[in-house]
Amino acid sequence: MSAAILDTYAAKVLNAANEQHPSFASEMTRYVRALRDYFVELGPSRFKEVADAVMRHPVKALMHSDPFTWRTYDKPRGYAGDAVMLDYIYGPQFANPPCPSQAAQRLYLYSTNSHSCQGVRYRRDQLAIAIDRAAVDVDSPRILALACGHLRELSSCRAFAMKRNLEIVAMDQDKLSLDQVERDYGSYGVQILHAGVREILKGRIDLRNFDLIYAAGLFDYLPDEVARPLIVRLFQALNPGGRLLYANFVPEIEDCGYMETFMDWHLLFRTKFETLDLAHGVSITELSDRKLWTDPLNTMAFVELVKAPSSPQEVEDG
Ligand SMILES: C[S@@+](CC[C@H](N)C(=O)[O-])C[C@H]1O[C@@H](n2cnc3c(N)ncnc32)[C@H](O)[C@@H]1O
Repeated sequence: MSAAILDTYAAKVLNAANEQHPSFASEMTRYVRALRDYFVELGPSRFKEVADAVMRHPVKALMHSDPFTWRTYDKPRGYAGDAVMLDYIYGPQFANPPCPSQAAQRLYLYSTNSHSCQGVRYRRDQLAIAIDRAAVDVDSPRILALACGHLRELSSCRAFAMKRNLEIVAMDQDKLSLDQVERDYGSYGVQILHAGVREILKGRIDLRNFDLIYAAGLFDYLPDEVARPLIVRLFQALNPGGRLLYANFVPEIEDCGYMETFMDWHLLFRTKFETLDLAHGVSITELSDRKLWTDPLNTMAFVELVKAPSSPQEVEDG
């Protein structure tokens, strides 16, 4: 495929947007898939040249009129994928940013329904299910939401709606996001912990006795040499029978080229087996179960590790 085809597709997208043509979504999908194909074929470093050329095309102004694409690109908090941007994905009950034109509004609706965004919403629901499950297993489960963002999984969580006792520690490196968590959920007893992965790995914070620990939207940013010891450390912080759940975007998702180009959003994609392999440092003898699955669109891999219940010997020894 010659890169010139991208200009042709971009021109069709622009035309469909300006004419408010019903083919706009199809033109976008064709363009998004072509960007994906280049990204997959060339790899991140060689794709950069293609992305730079695309960013010189007038289609860039249209893409950046979409508040979701723009926020990710602009990075007002200094990093892509902040919790406000996640709220755009989660829906109008959390965020309804103004769009400067009708074309921008259509694009916003399109981009926040991309495969990756559908995967993110599925991921939030998996977190909510994990909390529900913990509340079935344990009366007052202790839960660590690592890299919690705005903790929006609580809005899909039945145990939370049913006012079950949940001892939730919401941890993030971003103070502004934690302030939002405090405003929305502080009165429900959610505790805030302003710290990052580094503090965990340096042993500066004491994490223990959790029935559930989960991290979503974190491992896609962590290289293996950070992710692997982190998983071991988190697993140690579980009670017997406790669960650790984490997720990672998988390679070749439909919008990966769009994300790289117009959002300047660079994730560490891992296959589902690479995602599972991050937990290699957890001894198999410490596990009573291990699950690996993906969402229906195959954008995200999920791993759940269940810590073995303590053996009778351990209980006797106290
Ligand atoms: C993509 S958001 C995900 C938020 C939330 N888990 C969700 O799924 O909606 C990523 C979050 O990870 C946090 N984060 C990124 N790196 C971190 C680190 N090293 N330590 C703690 N939090 C981190 C960011 O501040 C941000 O809130």
